[in-house]
Amino acid sequence: MRILGIETSCDETGVAIYDSERGLLAHTLHSQVKLHAEYGGVVPELASRDHVRNITPLVAQTLTTANVPTDSITAIAYTQGPGLVGALLVGAGFAKALAHAWQIPAIGVHHMEGHLLAPFLDQTHPKFPFLALLVSGGHTQIIEVTDIGEYTILGESLDDAAGEAFDKTAKLLGLDYPGGPLLAALATQGTPNKFTFPRPMLDRPGLDFSFSGLKTHALNAINKTELTDQNKADLAWAFEDAIVDTLIKKCARALEQTAITDLVIAGGVGANKTLRARLNVFAATNNIKVFYPRIEFCTDNGAMIAYAGYERFKRGCLDDSLEINVKARWPLSAH
Ligand code: KG4
Ligand code: ZN
Repeated sequence: MRILGIETSCDETGVAIYDSERGLLAHTLHSQVKLHAEYGGVVPELASRDHVRNITPLVAQTLTTANVPTDSITAIAYTQGPGLVGALLVGAGFAKALAHAWQIPAIGVHHMEGHLLAPFLDQTHPKFPFLALLVSGGHTQIIEVTDIGEYTILGESLDDAAGEAFDKTAKLLGLDYPGGPLLAALATQGTPNKFTFPRPMLDRPGLDFSFSGLKTHALNAINKTELTDQNKADLAWAFEDAIVDTLIKKCARALEQTAITDLVIAGGVGANKTLRARLNVFAATNNIKVFYPRIEFCTDNGAMIAYAGYERFKRGCLDDSLEINVKARWPLSAH
């Protein structure tokens, strides 16, 4: 079985082919980061147009790289939501039209399901049940995964997502968009503990997060401080330290509550090296196994959509209709 996966929910056009026997055959990605950087954030209309420009050449390129005939593709998986509606429509329209032309089914995939199954693209992956920390630009959730499609949200952000907090704080520090990785790079030059940021909601029971206070704290600290290069790095260190610490403590709490020992870290913030290093220490001392997707599959990509589509296809979740029905908002638990 071979699934062509198409991701267009935000600012990355991703295409991949997943083969049930041989694994991932090819994946290509076009990032729109440069396009949106001058506006300091994603401009939805520009994102849609750029997906239109890139989707056909990327699909052609992926098929060539995989070196498989088009009639060997079993189904086409596409991101049905959540995301920017115009961007989603490009991928959905393209996938449905191609599936119709090739007379094969289309499969609508939940973007966050793609993220949380991304570790399955590699040989070593978790066993069910496992917990997943989904940390992206739009989501911060701790999810109990009992099986494919059986997702219980144990905790989530009540306001900003972790990636959003990284990006907004980075902007306050004068860094470009998307600031998360740039702030993380700056933090490596920071002096530990020169500044201390609060750990939001750790003093309360439960597994929810709140990051807007942390951002406000960052704003106040930045306004009070002379922004020399070293001070900026020290502030970046303190911000990253607070957010990473909060994420890990909440994961520890969830693992303890559920007595689950496998943990998946998925989504763009999962690429953060400090988060990975500290989680590894935590895991080693607590008998927990942590699984990360490959760095390139932490951020948005077509491979995770192809894989989630493959799992859905096996379970008969197909869509043969010509109707295009994307979901800008779509809770994972309702899936
Ligand atoms: O999963 P993703 O590619 O897109 C969404 O579905 O949102 O995540 C993008 C987010 C951005 O907020 C970006 O700043 C953040 O992930 N990010 C990072 C790092 N790499 C990406 N945040 C902190 N450290 C990083 N190394
Ligand atoms: Zn994403």
